[in-house]
Amino acid sequence: MKILMVCLGNICRSPLAHGILESKVAVANLPWTVDSAGTSGFHNGEAPHRESISVAKANNVDITKQVSRLFVQQDFDDFDLILTMDTSNYRDIMRLARNEEDKNKVKMILNYVYPGQNRGVPDPYYEGGFDGVFNMLNEACDKIIERQKD
Ligand code: 4NP
Repeated sequence: MKILMVCLGNICRSPLAHGILESKVAVANLPWTVDSAGTSGFHNGEAPHRESISVAKANNVDITKQVSRLFVQQDFDDFDLILTMDTSNYRDIMRLARNEEDKNKVKMILNYVYPGQNRGVPDPYYEGGFDGVFNMLNEACDKIIERQKD
């Protein structure tokens, strides 16, 4: 299974989701690959935000090697599951979908914790705080792994 985490800038939220799930996948020894991308490309080529790096490190997750990149339509071919952080990312990705198969791959990540509620992961800088966002994504990633074991 190939999973892609998506947010707007690919420097705050999706790098955390990427790193957290990647570390759980390693522990569970699952044959999965995880990556992340942004819908904007504003931060292409940049490392994650220093506060995302810091909260990840405090929780034994290393995201320092990640590099921000733009989501591209090829990602629909390269990934089985595309997990968006908020409704705006969801809409942007759905607009790029070429067919029903593409659309079926796109889900809101917090629906793993709050099914059907379409809750968004807040921008940690302005709203959620980096610890709060880390905890939300950690819970969601636990559910993603659990779901696969069912
Ligand atoms: P992210 O946060 O989508 O969680 O990476 C943001 C980072 C940068 C911007 C927006 C959101 N920006 O507009 O530059």
